[in-house]
Amino acid sequence: MFSVVVLISGGGSNLRALLTAAASPLYPAKVVAVGSDKAATGLEHAEEFGVPTFVVEPSRFESREAWAEVLLSNIEFHKPDLVVLAGFMRVLPANIVNQLSPRMINLHPSLLPDFPGANAVADTLAAGATVTGATIHIVDEGVDTGKVLTQVSIPVALGISETDLQEQIKLVEQEQLVQAVQDIATGALVLAEKEHNA
Ligand code: GRF
Repeated sequence: MFSVVVLISGGGSNLRALLTAAASPLYPAKVVAVGSDKAATGLEHAEEFGVPTFVVEPSRFESREAWAEVLLSNIEFHKPDLVVLAGFMRVLPANIVNQLSPRMINLHPSLLPDFPGANAVADTLAAGATVTGATIHIVDEGVDTGKVLTQVSIPVALGISETDLQEQIKLVEQEQLVQAVQDIATGALVLAEKEHNA
């Protein structure tokens, strides 16, 4: 069975959607572990579904690289076919990206390349955009710069608050994530070949 490790930092609504889909015997992927950089509330979803969790906090390490090594060991212990960053709010250093790319995808609440970074929804509203959306992309060493796999557009309602728009995007993302993982697992969506520069 195609196996997935999910990394989160927050409430984990996207994680929950994937866990719910994967509970069906017809779904072609299984969530084998959920990791976080802190005691995120979303870890409760994993516990509810009987999926093991791990927390690796950067503040306990001398460098980002040392933190990432331990995070990587925890991920690789579960031998995943795919790693999903679902609201994981840390930029991963090169050592972990090189090891996992292109088998690592990220959800981002905008139509990339527009509005990368941690404040995408606020930036979208501040720019007065009338259309936004959700992107799933391969993680590379940049911030939200990897190859785009799927995008869904959403109109921005006049006067909508940041919180409401974020929630609207999350609903779209949940469906998009379940579909993308299914398509990657079945081979309908092919991840880019890893480039070897050396
Ligand atoms: C999502 O909107 C994702 O795009 C962004 O963080 C949010 C995570 O939401 N990176 P949740 O924790 O899955 O509810």
